[in-house]
Amino acid sequence: MSLTDVSYRKNIKSPLNYIGGKQRILGQILPLFPANINCFVDLFTGGCNVGINANAKKIICNDNLSYLIDMYKLFKDNELQETIQHIENRITEFELSLTNEDGYKKLRTHYNQHKNPLDLFVLIAFSFNHQIRFNNSHEFNNPFGKDRSCFNATMKANLGHFIHKLKDRNIAFTCHNFEAFDFSELTEKDFVYCDPPYLITTGTYNDGKRGFTGWNESEEKKLLQILDNLHKNNIKFALSNVLEHKGKSNDLLKKWLNQHQSYHVSYIEMDYANANYQTLVRDKNASVEVLIMNYEPNKKFETLSLFSDTSIHYQTN
Ligand SMILES: C[S@@+](CC[C@H](N)C(=O)[O-])C[C@H]1O[C@@H](n2cnc3c(N)ncnc32)[C@H](O)[C@@H]1O
Repeated sequence: MSLTDVSYRKNIKSPLNYIGGKQRILGQILPLFPANINCFVDLFTGGCNVGINANAKKIICNDNLSYLIDMYKLFKDNELQETIQHIENRITEFELSLTNEDGYKKLRTHYNQHKNPLDLFVLIAFSFNHQIRFNNSHEFNNPFGKDRSCFNATMKANLGHFIHKLKDRNIAFTCHNFEAFDFSELTEKDFVYCDPPYLITTGTYNDGKRGFTGWNESEEKKLLQILDNLHKNNIKFALSNVLEHKGKSNDLLKKWLNQHQSYHVSYIEMDYANANYQTLVRDKNASVEVLIMNYEPNKKFETLSLFSDTSIHYQTN
């Protein structure tokens, strides 16, 4: 199949294997978003799984990871063939393969000196678990994905679909800390989706050790305040998060929910084969993943079945 002749699949998959990416639960969250959105803001866009698939007249994808945003901007502005050619030239030039760690490290050094946004994608393709990780000096430092990671046919196809859709849509990229985002232009017809780092889970973007803001209680409180302000201004929002994870509980979020009884909580069903609510609450490793909305979602799509008796999920003890 030619990359310039791809037919569009229903949901586009991000070409990045992003930690915390929402690809696997898109089918549950997209139907809960309001209809007829004018401007959709994906405030923590990460792998862009949500923004690229959102249904709105205009989409703004924001993240504070500047190198990621630079890469998306170039994906949108470049011709697809130019991007693919750059990736393939780099693979040849640095003799990248499943086993050539030395070539990978040379490209990594080259990227850290020149920061060509397309080289970041090549590194991600060959890096361990395809992850993005920077150190405090803003150097990409993810190790080589020996015998596992390469720019394979699936990744190439996903990249092609993704870039086609980026070019096709009215989508813009911004790079701000979430607090610095300008919400003042938003109106009642707009919508803000938030998928921040989770306070009680670990992602490389949570730890504050990579030269970008880490995530802690103070960040979480600021975000919840912003959401309350949006609500006051009649702007709809949805927040993805986990209330419980591996025996930890996000009491700050639960308390906020208790203070805002008008907000709706939809529980996300996970891929737990044969699980029911009783087995999940007994399983200390289970996650209670939610979408919190300041509007009433279309009931038809609410995924409450697994947790239908569970107001206890967000009562603080
Ligand atoms: C859970 S990921 C988003 C995943 C995304 N929804 C997806 O499906 O691929 C959270 C993102 O928030 C970004 N982030 C972390 N702190 C931020 C901040 N203070 N301001 C803006 N973005 C931030 C991280 O760089 C990361 O990309």
